Amino acid sequence: MSLGLDLSYLERSARGEFDLGWLRDTDTEWGVRAVPSKTGLTMRDIFIGSYGEVPEHAPLRTMAPRGSDVAPDVPDMGYTINDKSEVWSDNVLDLYEEAVSRQWSATRDIPWGDLAPLDPDVEHAMCQLATVLSEVEMVAADFPAKWLWRINHDFVEAKMFLCTQVMDEARHTEVFRKRALANGGGLGKATAVVERFLQLILDADSYDEGSALMHLLGEGIVLSLFRAGAALAPSPVEQQIFRLCMQDEARHVAYGTMHLRYRLERDPSMAEDFHAYLDKGEEIMAMIFTTPEIVEPTAILAAGSVEAARDLGAAAGDVLRLQIVGDYLKRCDHAGLDRRGRLHLPDAIVQGVPGAMAGAAA
Ligand SMILES: [Fe+2]
Ligand SMILES: [Fe+2]
Repeated sequence: MSLGLDLSYLERSARGEFDLGWLRDTDTEWGVRAVPSKTGLTMRDIFIGSYGEVPEHAPLRTMAPRGSDVAPDVPDMGYTINDKSEVWSDNVLDLYEEAVSRQWSATRDIPWGDLAPLDPDVEHAMCQLATVLSEVEMVAADFPAKWLWRINHDFVEAKMFLCTQVMDEARHTEVFRKRALANGGGLGKATAVVERFLQLILDADSYDEGSALMHLLGEGIVLSLFRAGAALAPSPVEQQIFRLCMQDEARHVAYGTMHLRYRLERDPSMAEDFHAYLDKGEEIMAMIFTTPEIVEPTAILAAGSVEAARDLGAAAGDVLRLQIVGDYLKRCDHAGLDRRGRLHLPDAIVQGVPGAMAGAAA
């Protein structure tokens, strides 16, 4: 392959014989002027002119910015995701801005020095939960990373948002490892059921499938766990960890929910495909509720000790179960996918969740 090296250009330009083709022969939008908003010059502020027009189907597969004048010999990058609706969401520009402005440091922004010895049951429970969370977080970086290079550059804002997600998840992986190792408890147990769910996401045949399983279902569960964690935190240190992670996770879930909505609004016939993906995901979700390594630490954190959790029985874990399933159903509704009629969760798991029992699979 020749890159067309023209050494005579060196001599011509040295003599002042500029080419200036880029200046004269280019179809530029002279005069286009983005106006900064209150917070600075945002992605939404520059969403103007032809740059602000995102094609439904990308006409080229190059890395050129939208709105630029693309030379005819620019190579084809081989993107496989070339339809806007495959990755777009109406909130993606704002979510990117929010992600960039709300980055935090697991080293600096957690008051690690305030950690005090905890009751051993509680420390063990906290460390087991931290182990599971640290284990699952990185799949939400691996999955976007796997698909990022396949996404057409015309949808660069979605790519940029996914890049922020990759960084967020690195930090979540980091903060839970740090918590497990910072107060004497150490890392706990990894289980097959959790890893099987991660594998389902990583091995998904399409971005559609993986995004539904991860952004909507998996990260939705994690968001509910963070929310519960902030309430169950044994000290202000964990409270701050959960609070900061929750901010990030809410963005990932907001993208996934609004993306699915965008996708379904443009092609309602895809609903059945998404139902099928979630059928699979819910089977694993059900197994998570019967995994002691997840259920028991949260019950112990809620009750304060192993004995207290035993005394409370099912009630100790119910709060989390109701929250996870309830939040999940609401998110599906918001995305425009009504799962109430076909939840693949046993009655024992959906019991008590408003509206969930109707038609639930046994
Ligand atoms: Fe995360
Ligand atoms: Fe996430």
